[in-house]
Amino acid sequence: MHAETWKLAAYLIAALLFVASLAGLAKHETSRRGVWFGIAGMAIALVATAATALGLASGLGITLLLIALVIGAAIGVWRARVVEMTGMPELIALMHSFVGLAAVLVGWNGFLEVEGNATQTELVGSLLGIHHAEVVIGVFIGAVTFTGSIIAYLKLSARIPSAPLRLPGKNVLNLGALVAFVVLTVFFVITPATWLLVVVTVLALALGVHLVASIGGGDMPVVVSMLNSYSGWAAAASGFLLGNDLLIITGALVGSSGAYLSYVMCKAMNRSFISVIAGGFGAPASSGPAEVTGEHREIDAAGVAELLSNASSVVITPGYGMAVAQAQSPVAELTRRLREQGVNVRFGVHPVAGRLPGHMNVLLAEAKVPYDIVLEMDEINDDLADTDVVLVIGANDTVNPSAAEDPGSPIAGMPVLRVWEAGNVVVFKRSMAPGYAGVQNPLFFRENSQMLFGDAKERVQDILAALPARVG
Ligand code: TAP
Repeated sequence: MHAETWKLAAYLIAALLFVASLAGLAKHETSRRGVWFGIAGMAIALVATAATALGLASGLGITLLLIALVIGAAIGVWRARVVEMTGMPELIALMHSFVGLAAVLVGWNGFLEVEGNATQTELVGSLLGIHHAEVVIGVFIGAVTFTGSIIAYLKLSARIPSAPLRLPGKNVLNLGALVAFVVLTVFFVITPATWLLVVVTVLALALGVHLVASIGGGDMPVVVSMLNSYSGWAAAASGFLLGNDLLIITGALVGSSGAYLSYVMCKAMNRSFISVIAGGFGAPASSGPAEVTGEHREIDAAGVAELLSNASSVVITPGYGMAVAQAQSPVAELTRRLREQGVNVRFGVHPVAGRLPGHMNVLLAEAKVPYDIVLEMDEINDDLADTDVVLVIGANDTVNPSAAEDPGSPIAGMPVLRVWEAGNVVVFKRSMAPGYAGVQNPLFFRENSQMLFGDAKERVQDILAALPARVG
């Protein structure tokens, strides 16, 4: 069979495996299979692409290609092995930036190659116009993805503040950039001058920075999945330029599934999809959050053990701090001990608790907490008022009453776990510092709240030691 036919057959199989992978990843039960389909598809795609490139390349080209493959694979294996689960979102954001940068380089390369070819025999008339449109669109999407992802990386890794940047007339700036892009695209297709592409590149780099910088910490989960979508479209644009069908299909799959995930997350967090993708467009002009003042009360581990011994219903709401402290095993042990004593213990998991979707569920499953007592926010919220004790373990934004009660708060309208309705609330944290969204939490000053300061794992272990042994 001809080499080109082999390549097309491999691409088709890889594309089908990617579709099967996405279908598998849609459900807990089939997610492992989904991952394996994805790995198989990517392996086939890589082998077919590398084999084709090796067949076309010269001696130096082959050497460079192999060196790039080895370096890339080594960095990938190293990062995947050392990354903490809490560091996954920023790693993903950084990877999206590479896709964006690659799309910019492919676009520029496509432009320079055609410009450098004086005869331009292959691309004539309208085809040349289409090629230039592909170049400018690919560069634009790639550059927005590149800088947007870098800003997301910096925010997620707390290297810059997560609060939204509020430039005066920010929506006009974003809209103006889009209009300018459309106009420049038309000019570029008619007269493909280098300076026009330079302007589009700079404009898109700036727009990427501004779009993501304008979004507050509370909305970052949606931004990450949105950048995932952009990186897919950037890859698809590169696929058109390189004439690579698999890149077009894969890019479109990533682009559309990322967009759908962003939409689903926006619905779950009661956010406007348009507002988030347009860098906070239409978000109500905040009068600023209400001032949070008051005295907090402290409790020690023995006090919490006593509260728990007298409780008949307990809800645990875990958050990012449980992941940082790696407290899931002692928390699972505490759950087991309380259940043995006849206490009704359940977990309430907020959809964006932690730093990536499903973060808490994975940790609790790892610690062997039974699935049936791990409930989603909507399943547990109405029961919180009838709960004796809520243990807030390393959660903050996801249990912040300001979201429900303070229209001026940056997280206003975001659904939260209404833990303050319970009889007693114990908040495990190390200090009075705010959570990821940078918003102070009035829960800490409520009459029925008490703070248990210190590392969550150590404090849960202290409670286990102080808990009376099983009666009878
Ligand atoms: P956060 O609001 O970030 O609060 C975590 C709390 O854990 C902090 O108050 C921190 O207080 C405490 N903490 C940290 N280390 C601790 C330790 N070793 N022991 C005890 N406490 C510790 O967490 P959340 O309630 O889970 O909310 C998640 C936030 O992240 C939301 O704003 C969400 O939008 C954002 N986010 C989520 C995702 C996804 S997809 N889930 C992705 C990106 C961002 P101290 O420092 O005082 O200890």
